[in-house]
Amino acid sequence: MKPIYILNGPNLNLLGQREPGIYGPGTIADLERRCAAKGKSLGHATVFRQTNTEGEMIDWIHEAQDKASGIIVNGAAYTHTSVALHDALKAVNLPTIEVHLSNIYKREPFRHHSYISPVAHGVICGFGGAGYELALEGLSNILKSTGKG
Ligand code: DQA
Repeated sequence: MKPIYILNGPNLNLLGQREPGIYGPGTIADLERRCAAKGKSLGHATVFRQTNTEGEMIDWIHEAQDKASGIIVNGAAYTHTSVALHDALKAVNLPTIEVHLSNIYKREPFRHHSYISPVAHGVICGFGGAGYELALEGLSNILKSTGKG
């Protein structure tokens, strides 16, 4: 079975020190460990990556087409700006869950629009790191129900 790709966008490498009141005290390494453990408990390998570059995210989504069973994506700020991310996810057509640590709808109006949501199966936001675990459960259920997991 192919792994689940978990792709994280800009500034998420600063988790732990970046606005901890909003994003919590955990680091990106903590998040990666949590995802690996949750994935394993559900029977899925995970590939966890973070980049500060839009093009690299696009390349990873293209790579996922052949190498992944599904995608969990926290586009971070690119969520609100990137037609390219929207187009890439639409093109590869893998089951995709959008995740945000914070509740983007409770924050500034410029965070209320997502280019990812229209091409995602579902969206989880506002649960901190636990949202990634919820996304893994949701994606695992989708993959199992479609005979791909
Ligand atoms: C975020 C929310 C985005 O609005 C923000 O730009 C981020 C992180 C989140 O996980 O809550 O960098 O995606």
